[in-house]
Order: sequence, then C-alpha cells, then structure tokens
Amino acid sequence: MTTGSWFPSSDALSGAGGLSNAQLSPRAYGLPDERELAALAAPYFGDWGTQADSPAYAPSVVPLDAAPGRPQDQRAGEGRGAALPRVGGVPLERIRADFPILSERVEGKPLIWLDNAATTQRPRQVVDRLTYFYEHENSNVHRGAHVLAARATDAYEAARETVARFIGAPGPENIVFVRGTTEGINLAAQSYVKPLLAPGDEIILTLLEHHANIVPWQLIAQETGAVLRVAPVDETGQILFSEYAKLFNSRTRFVSLAHVSNALGTVLPVGEMTALAHSRGVPVLVDGAQSVSHMPVNVTALDADFFVFSGHKVFGPTGIGALYGKTELLEAAKPYQGGGNMISDVTFERTVYNKPPQKFEAGTGNIADAAGLGAALDYVTAIGMENIAAYEHELLTYATAELARVPGLRPIGTAAQKASVLSFVLDGYGVADVGQALSRAGIAVRAGHHCAQPILRHFGLEGTVRPSLAFYNTPEEVDALVKTLLALAH
Ligand code: ALA
Repeated sequence: MTTGSWFPSSDALSGAGGLSNAQLSPRAYGLPDERELAALAAPYFGDWGTQADSPAYAPSVVPLDAAPGRPQDQRAGEGRGAALPRVGGVPLERIRADFPILSERVEGKPLIWLDNAATTQRPRQVVDRLTYFYEHENSNVHRGAHVLAARATDAYEAARETVARFIGAPGPENIVFVRGTTEGINLAAQSYVKPLLAPGDEIILTLLEHHANIVPWQLIAQETGAVLRVAPVDETGQILFSEYAKLFNSRTRFVSLAHVSNALGTVLPVGEMTALAHSRGVPVLVDGAQSVSHMPVNVTALDADFFVFSGHKVFGPTGIGALYGKTELLEAAKPYQGGGNMISDVTFERTVYNKPPQKFEAGTGNIADAAGLGAALDYVTAIGMENIAAYEHELLTYATAELARVPGLRPIGTAAQKASVLSFVLDGYGVADVGQALSRAGIAVRAGHHCAQPILRHFGLEGTVRPSLAFYNTPEEVDALVKTLLALAH
C-alpha cells in the first residue's frame, strides 16, 4: 500500500484543480509544517515517537496479522507492532483511546461506529475543553468588564481564529459562528443571495445536494420568483461537468454545491466548478459538511465565496458550525436576524450594524461549543489532515473491495473520487432490515434516504444502507461489517 501517494496529486479530491503538489503542501494551506505539527501534537499525544522508536506500544484493538491489502504502515513484516496501522505518525490505537465512546459495548458487542457521515464521535480533548470552559471561563462574551468575560471572549475568539486557520481563510473576521451547515446555508441564502434575486433569475445546484442545500434555495426562489437549475450526474454519481457548464446564462445569480456528497461520497471537482462560475461572474457557496473531516480544505485555494461546515461532523460539538464568507460579500450581505451583539448603535428610528462577523451573530452565541470546536480542529490538525485523507483513502479502497465480495450487494455511488461513504443496497432485503441486522452485531450505520432524496431517486431508490468511515475506524471493523453482510446474504 502506498500511504500518502494518493492525496497530494488528486486535484479533484481537494477540489483545487490545477494546483501543484507544492501548492497543496500544508504550508501553502497556511497549515503548520512538520515541526510545528509536532509541537502542536505534544499536548495531545505526548511524544508519540517515530515509527522506529515505539515498538513497545501495545496494540489493543488491531491484531498484528493484518492481511495483505489492508491499510498498514511500511513496517509490515518486521515483528511485533510492525503491522499497526498509523494515521500519519500516530498509532491508531492511540487515537482510538482518545475517543471513550469507541470502547462502548452495544447489544453485548463492541461498538463499531460507521455512521460518521451523520455525526462523528468526540475525543476526550473536546469533552475536556467543554468542562474546562464551564469550570473556569464561563461568562457571556464581549459585554462584561470582568475577568471571566475576558476569558470567555478570548476562548470564543481564539476558536474563531482556529477555524479560520483550519480552512485557510484570510482571517477570523471572515468566520461567522452558526449552529451548523444548515444555518450557514440559510444565512447565505437569506442575507446575501435573496436581495440579488428578481423573478426569472437562476440558482444552480447539483443533483448530489442534501436537503440542507436544496430547501433554503427553494424558500428564497418561492419568495422572489427565481428558478433552481440542477447539474446532473453520470452513472457513477459524478457531476457531468459539460452539463453543469451548459446551465450558465445571463440570469444565473448564484451556485451552491456540495464538496462531498453525503449519500454517495462523491468528491465534486469544486475548484473547477467554482472557477467556471467565476468566469461567468457568479459567486459560489461550497458546502463542506462532508469534506472537512476527511481532507485538507483551503477556501482561499478553492476561491469559494462562501464555505460552510458543522462542528459535529468534524469531531466537535453539536450546535456549532461556521460560515466562511469573502469580506466583500459579508459586507454586502444584510443581517437576517436582529438583536444584541450584532449592532453598534440602536435608536427606535434606526440601527447601525456591527461589522462582520458580529453583524450575523445576533444574541448570545454558543460560546462553549465554539471553544470545543476549536479543540476538535486542533486535534485533527495535530494528526494532519493530509495523513487522515491518506489513511481513510486506503481504508475506503479496502472496504470497497471487501464489500464487493458480498453476493447481491449493489454499491450506489462509484465515482473515481470518493470520500468516506459506502452506500449500497442488498438483494432481498430492505435497507432498514440490513441496518437492524448490523445494529444487532454492534455496527452503527445509517439506513434510509440520508436527507438527500433527489440523488437516491435518480438511482431509482428511496434509501440505501450507508456505512461511512472516519480516521479512527479500523480494517477489522470493515471485516466485521462484511462478515455480518455475508452471513445475511447467504
Ligand atoms: N446530513 C447528515 C447525514 O448525512 C444528517 O446523515
């Protein structure tokens, strides 16, 4: 296996078409280099050592007899510890030990969490960060002239800086804290796009969108008389780029597209799609709900006008997420919620708004969870998003090959560029039946429409079974999934 060979050269994966490997390096993303990463990692993992100097590390989850074709590091065959999968430099067991819930037993079996596209699990570093906030920092932000107000404000604003760094935004003033992807898209739709629209104007989406990137646009289309146009996909579930290109005309006002499809796992060529939209003078929102936990993202390299993601899909708390916007768009946008915090002066006659991002953060924000999100992003940054992408790619490749051994299993979504998701249907079984059978084996997957009915109906389906991977999943967990499915299929 060639860990790492895949990510840097994959333009479509990063969505940054045409970038060289050097441009895709962590440095180019504004991310830490190796030395800085080691310093960042130290508080989380201590000195995890090099691959050569930590042979004593005792595996507790992954057996040492990893079969050929499984993700494993390059010491395979060199004795005890040799075949331990690592994510970058970090042994997988060490990572898994940070996620207490991964040691849970359900149905009398060890929990196998393969529902990461719905929500990810949280490392104790995130839980500890929340506890620390409530024990030492809790206050409202910005307003109080006392020590805890200063601590809470520092925590909140430090998290904003962390988010900006993590996605390569120019600065924290480009980051609006929101409840999650759904609220971020609604905000962009209501605040920026709706005021641009006249009857007959057009918004381009793709067939791959989940409901959060469909319904907000329908709402403003109904209010303004605008029309939605939808880019189709091929039989693998990848965008038909030439058909997408044909959708543009003089009435096109906005494009909103997924970075990664939650139902199929397709990685869209968002860099190229954004460049095309810009060549027609049209701004683009990239929905990163399913990408930020699987690959490095750089909104500046993508040239996205808006980018949204949810904290809970990237190992952070629920109820917190971020909307990135280019400065001029955030300045042009009208606030769609009013209240405290988003103003600089109020009389009964008029209100002068605060500058972005506060202009869009009416009321008391989710302060503690923002700090928790910052801790989650620090955690994955310490491991290295490029390392996570490389490991997950190997695991996805392995799982795809293993699932192909199950008689009657039909994969749904077979694009060449995919991340995390292994949607399928199984002959003779409803998707809920398969989901329940897996649950009885301790395996959590989502079975249903995944809040993305249009793309599933395109494949003639009302639902699929959807295992979805994260960097803490192991080849053995894939084996358990396949074993349970083989037993069902026979
Ligand atoms: N969007 C989430 C999913 O894909 C809820 O399951």
